[in-house]
Amino acid sequence: MGKLWGGRFAKEMDKLLEQFNASISFDRRMYAADIKGSIAYARALERVGILTADETQAIVDGLDAVLAEFDAGTFAFLPSDEDIHTAVERRLGELIGDVAGKLHTGRSRNDQVATDMRLYLLARISVLREHVQTLQRAIVDKAEAHLDVIMPGYTHLQPAQPILFAHWLMSFFWMLQRDVERLDDLTKRVSVLPLGGAALAGNTFGIDRAALAAELGFDRISENSLDAVSDRDFVAETLFWAALLQTHLSRLAEDLILYATAEFGFVELDDAYSTGSSIMPQKKNPDSLELARGKTGRVVGNFVALLTTLKGLPSSYDKDLQEDKEPLFDTLDTLELELPIVAGVIATLRIHPERMASALRDDLLATELADYLVRQGLPFRQGHHIVGQAVRLAGERGCGLRDLTVNDYRALSSHFGDDVHDVLDFRRAVEQRSVPGGTATAAVMAQIERAKALSGRLQ
Ligand code: ARG
Repeated sequence: MGKLWGGRFAKEMDKLLEQFNASISFDRRMYAADIKGSIAYARALERVGILTADETQAIVDGLDAVLAEFDAGTFAFLPSDEDIHTAVERRLGELIGDVAGKLHTGRSRNDQVATDMRLYLLARISVLREHVQTLQRAIVDKAEAHLDVIMPGYTHLQPAQPILFAHWLMSFFWMLQRDVERLDDLTKRVSVLPLGGAALAGNTFGIDRAALAAELGFDRISENSLDAVSDRDFVAETLFWAALLQTHLSRLAEDLILYATAEFGFVELDDAYSTGSSIMPQKKNPDSLELARGKTGRVVGNFVALLTTLKGLPSSYDKDLQEDKEPLFDTLDTLELELPIVAGVIATLRIHPERMASALRDDLLATELADYLVRQGLPFRQGHHIVGQAVRLAGERGCGLRDLTVNDYRALSSHFGDDVHDVLDFRRAVEQRSVPGGTATAAVMAQIERAKALSGRLQ
């Protein structure tokens, strides 16, 4: 069967090129957006007198019938169906005859595909937004349920200062909150209607683009037809958004994988989110989180792939732009599956406060001693140096900072008093950090309240 654009061609397309050129295998998933856009476009053509009311009705009914075939999974593809746009138009012609040929008046696949992509993406990102918020709520719930648990905080993965487990966990809430905000911001730029831009120069039939935008639920219309048909910034932004979100998920996964090791033992994954080994019967592996970490490669790769495609493209539409779809779809599919799994891992995670407590080494309190000396009037740098000597002394004796005597401390500095051991307390160290954003219980509770309001968890 001939191509919809076959008029000027005397020869059939090379079979391999037909395969190379076709996007139907992956763009068929945009059928609902394509048909929705076409129904709105038929109505717009009617308003400018290109279609009669009867013709419009025939086209709309025909498109509804095509939609029903797709929904039912009965749509029969032909080898000549190059992409979703030509497939729908071909089937419409079979169902309603020649009048179908009027639908494409003043429209190009260039503005059509850009419109489809945006419509399709708007639907998908609202689902992803929900998934991110579900994960945020799982984090808030888990943090709130274990508000009294203290764990070692790390920098450089070396023990640093004691923190609340809830404070550690909530740090991921705020990364995800920025992801939600970034998504809301980029959604504004997805919600722009390119239709009416036609091939590159605009539509000759006086189509009311604002009405089309309103009917299709877009916030705005594009301002320049050349830009409209080639703008894939909205795809690039979405892929960057996803790459950064994926990076956050990967960091969360990495912490949890580490904390779930036998050596740390701070947390334990639920069986539902773990797998076993085919050879070692004792193993319970955190595959869910390893994959959440591992998916970062493909999601970041998809972003880089699109930017590389866009770089150096001549003005307006080029077929290279067909390469926007697979990276986008792959990233959306990846996150749509992954986010609920990560939320499930968090919701079902078991916490072992006693293992965290036994990992609280005296070194984590060194800063408390330096702060003590500051309160006695010493400059912090001097206090830091003196406490460094105390750490060394304890190291030499193979004991902890709490095991050094008042005399030991006084030998290092006369500023140490009898009360020096009072500051060597993990709970006290945590509660001292009551600055907004700090790890003290009250500060973390305030943080959680703000997070609840943002994630829709406040009753
Ligand atoms: N399948 C094409 C794409 O995804 C549709 C646009 C084709 N336009 C064209 N002038 N050949 O980009």
